[in-house]
Amino acid sequence: MRTTPRTVEEQFLAATARSRELYEQALKVMPGGVTRTSIYSEPYPIYAERGEGCRVWDVDGTRRLDLVVNYTALLVGHAHPAVVRAIQEQAARGTSFAAPNPPEVRLAAELVDRVPSIEQVRFTNSGTEATMMALRLARAFTGRRRFAWVEGGYHGSHDLVQDPAVAGTLPEVAENAVVIPYNDAKGAAEILDRHGRELAAVIVEPILGSGGMIPADPEYLQALRAACDRHGSLLIFDEVISFRVRRGGAQEMYGITPDLTTLGKVIGGGLPVAAFGGRAEVMGLLDPRREGFLPQAGTLNGHPLGMAAGAATLELLTPDVYAELDRRGERTREGLRALFAEHEMAAQVTGVSSLMQVHFTPDPVRDHRGVMRSDPRQRKEFVMGLCNHGVLLNSRGMAALSTPVGDAEIDEFLEAVDAVLSDRRPPVR
Ligand SMILES: Cc1ncc(COP(=O)(O)O)c(C=O)c1O
Repeated sequence: MRTTPRTVEEQFLAATARSRELYEQALKVMPGGVTRTSIYSEPYPIYAERGEGCRVWDVDGTRRLDLVVNYTALLVGHAHPAVVRAIQEQAARGTSFAAPNPPEVRLAAELVDRVPSIEQVRFTNSGTEATMMALRLARAFTGRRRFAWVEGGYHGSHDLVQDPAVAGTLPEVAENAVVIPYNDAKGAAEILDRHGRELAAVIVEPILGSGGMIPADPEYLQALRAACDRHGSLLIFDEVISFRVRRGGAQEMYGITPDLTTLGKVIGGGLPVAAFGGRAEVMGLLDPRREGFLPQAGTLNGHPLGMAAGAATLELLTPDVYAELDRRGERTREGLRALFAEHEMAAQVTGVSSLMQVHFTPDPVRDHRGVMRSDPRQRKEFVMGLCNHGVLLNSRGMAALSTPVGDAEIDEFLEAVDAVLSDRRPPVR
């Protein structure tokens, strides 16, 4: 006789048999069964079968509300008809050429039009490559070696921006990085004033993304801008995530102009597209007509499918869409806060516009140290509980709205949260 599953994990296991089967096969051929560390979660990840709008169906046939949208990458949801059409039309014309292509010029022009600080832009296949190239470009432009980045910042997986504790990274590479605190204008400025003349660049996410979905204080970003100006370093905004908050990215929201910007995720409409761009004077170093130019290779750079998907996605994202995402995001964050208060749970909800994250701590969260105080056991139960109730968040408790998430879907999310918090039982250990 079958017994009804009781704990959150038992419920998860009971509903995901086919995912477990695939995971067991994958374990034999891929380390840890995955090809991307961030999508591994205990006891195993759920395998996606298909997506449509804000819904994802897993291989067991369960439909869920997707509030991860591939780590914020999909702003118009899964398989938007206009994006699918653009990909299909381009695929029928060919998928890859040793030649530039028309959609590449279209997407570049769109980005330059949206972001005044981007006078010229270049494409890459990942945010990792975009930040790697932006930092190299900053070193080439300034003739300096070192750069500063923010505690808790994430800029991809190349050596320059790894924690030196990560196995296999070169200590001499890490020595080129100066670490500054987040949301501490005075503390950061002091460090930058100490090292300023050695620094090619300061790289910062205007909204700390993977580090906790925490918007920067405007004064903090202003202090970084001023320090860069004092010392002749380039200010790089890594907007791989934050670009989704405004037509012109978070820099439009803050009214602060960086020298270089890196983009990714949303600009490829779900395909592997990223970019770096900025002042023409700096970007001009990449011009192959110029003597001693900085080369940028990449067999799949400016890939026509990604360019077409990105251009079709951005076409859908008009200013009124961003205003509506602001409203829906605020409504969701307020709804979450009200539920945590009602259930007497010590939790914080950070974020802005369509981006948010839940942190299980009684203290306000303003930087990555605050994020690290979040209780991992509560977070795991919350995320798995929501999955059992049909809503996907990422394992850190991050949620990102896409345009198909309307008021009805926000209600559905909040009802699921209410159910998870009501189911809560004291830990049995
Ligand atoms: C701010 C930021 N920069 C860079 C990256 C790296 O992008 P990718 O995963 O495309 O290499 C990420 C990825 O999450 C990111 O959030």
